[in-house]
Amino acid sequence: MKLLVTGGAGYIGSHIVLQAQAAGHNCTVVDDLSTGLRERIDCELVSLDIASASAQQGLESLLAQGFDAVIHLAAKKQVGESVEKPELYYKDNIGGLANLLLAMRATHTKKLVFSSSAAVYGMPDVEKVSETTSTKPINPYGETKLVGEWMVRNSSHWGLRGVSLRYFNAAGTGSKGLADTAALNLIPIAIGQLRRGETPVVFGNDYGTKDGSCIRDYVHVTDLAEAHIAAVNYLENLDQPFDVFNIGTGIGASVIEVLEAIKAVSGIDFDPVIGARRAGDPPRLVADVQRMNSVLGLRTKLGLREIVESAWNL
Ligand code: WQD
Repeated sequence: MKLLVTGGAGYIGSHIVLQAQAAGHNCTVVDDLSTGLRERIDCELVSLDIASASAQQGLESLLAQGFDAVIHLAAKKQVGESVEKPELYYKDNIGGLANLLLAMRATHTKKLVFSSSAAVYGMPDVEKVSETTSTKPINPYGETKLVGEWMVRNSSHWGLRGVSLRYFNAAGTGSKGLADTAALNLIPIAIGQLRRGETPVVFGNDYGTKDGSCIRDYVHVTDLAEAHIAAVNYLENLDQPFDVFNIGTGIGASVIEVLEAIKAVSGIDFDPVIGARRAGDPPRLVADVQRMNSVLGLRTKLGLREIVESAWNL
């Protein structure tokens, strides 16, 4: 298939491109390189900010070449920044998607995989979050992802078929050169701190969890990338216009367990600093992955150990 991957030079996008190419697909990437890196990908790159004034036209010309499907990742993803600058998130995440949908409609490009987030759920008070758990985002980032899902779903009236993938905590590295260089999430932050001789910090150990620290569902970026290929294939046979899947492992790990894994893999012994709680952190966020398993036919293969090993070594 001929695939357009927006945000394809990013950490997750480049893993998707690599896997799509390995599966025999032809990829073109659209990326403004604001956080993406050219050297992460070996395919055609169109340098374009999809939220810019001329983007709709640019996307239209590109899509007019004929693409089987679009995988859309290009977006902002920092929760804290989204609280500080919500309008930027509405412009990039919602405006960018609007431009893409307009261009897809104009060129009759009818298949879209949308990069969504567990942030659409907000602070769910359940053991495992399923796709039917109510969506109550608690920050502008999560809101833009939820609105994005609605935009994709509502485009069905002109024939779009969309699959939304709600990522849990993506981590790890699939191959050299594709690492998450941003250091905005627990694992890259803690690894960076250890490499600089600093001590990782636990943001709160007084939650009602087994060891008091927050629990998340860490999914290896390679497994996450595979979900996009599965979603593109699923779009071929989708008999409804829109579907949504959690992408995680279904297994929770606490911050303290993650830091223990980092300790074991790095061989660096440390006692983490116990810091204050971070505002807006749900104590527990673990995916129910039944639909991913049974409908998408996907099972994650890698666990926390492989995530940490790959993040430390690659
Ligand atoms: C994980 C846990 C922290 C750093 C975010 C977004 C989410 C999604 C993934 C994009 C939390 C704790 C962290 C540290 C710590 N993004 N922590 N010490 O917040 O679960 O999810 O990234 O879609 O929408 O919200 O990920 O990696 O920031 O934190 O104790 O130095 O680690 O409090 O419990 P989070 P994270």
